[in-house]
Amino acid sequence: MRLSLGQGHRLCLFPAYRSCCRIMSQHIDHFEFVPQMSAIAREAGALLMGYFRARVKIEYKGDADLVTEADRSSERLILERIQAQWPSHDVIGEEGARIERGGDYRWYVDPLDGTTNFAHGFPVFCVSLGLAFQGERKAAVVYDPTRDELFAAERGRGAVLNGERIAVSKTPKLVQSLVGTGFPSHKRHKNPNIYFYHQITLRSHGVRRAGSAALDLTSVAAGRLDGFWEFNLNSWDTAAGILIVEEAGGKVTGVDGHALAITDRDVVATNGFIHSEILDEFQEIFAGRGLEPLPDPREYRKQASRSSENS
Ligand code: IPD
Ligand code: CA
Ligand code: CA
Repeated sequence: MRLSLGQGHRLCLFPAYRSCCRIMSQHIDHFEFVPQMSAIAREAGALLMGYFRARVKIEYKGDADLVTEADRSSERLILERIQAQWPSHDVIGEEGARIERGGDYRWYVDPLDGTTNFAHGFPVFCVSLGLAFQGERKAAVVYDPTRDELFAAERGRGAVLNGERIAVSKTPKLVQSLVGTGFPSHKRHKNPNIYFYHQITLRSHGVRRAGSAALDLTSVAAGRLDGFWEFNLNSWDTAAGILIVEEAGGKVTGVDGHALAITDRDVVATNGFIHSEILDEFQEIFAGRGLEPLPDPREYRKQASRSSENS
């Protein structure tokens, strides 16, 4: 089933597509904000691709915390479009955009999620736009311009990828799951995630670390990953992706299972089936119980040189 999105809607201008237009126009009301949000995200995505092909100069916010001209231009463009269409809405953007009048609607904008990938020419990044109404996630778009994939959702109205409905996976057990995580680019020495990465790697089919939290969340929504977690994320990383997971039938909570406020920083998102299992594992790891010790690299080196001598 196709649902109304900015790009699909444009097809209706051509007579040959009239019948398709009728089908789609039945769904024009399906989403209230997504069509305009999609157009903004696509425009910002096209802008990012221009910079990506030209290989932009890296600047530093911290030791390994990168920012580029692409992050800033994308945020400027998004802010202009939001202000032009919704002048009364508040906006929080990662690169400094702040319009805070205490209004009902608030945007959480990550103009380029996956900056480190982007800056190194690794094609995993996106634009993430989340819209909240009175503090509750209402509408979301995550656009990956490298694959031309647009994920979108509105509360109570389902989630789509390029207009087609998506749903989380049905994988029933952690041991059969492929999951994702991420590591922050600042205060890395304070992040305990390497322990979680190790333990969950040993208890699943594997843990991927792709470098864009918003895309990690949409991967859960689309059933490409069975789960994802990360510590210390920001609202602009998660506002859109969390709603897309929930609307695709998944579950998103904090590490102890509580419902997530928009400003909560530690996130566990799953297909629902493996949720309690992963939270139980986390409680064990937080308590330091049952930790599989990390293999000693010196022992590994010794054994590796012994076996190469014997071969
Ligand atoms: C980062 C990405 C990354 C996550 C970091 C985020 P940025 O966002 O989402 O996957 O691990 O915690 O800060 O800086 O590329 O927008
Ligand atoms: Ca981000
Ligand atoms: Ca960013």
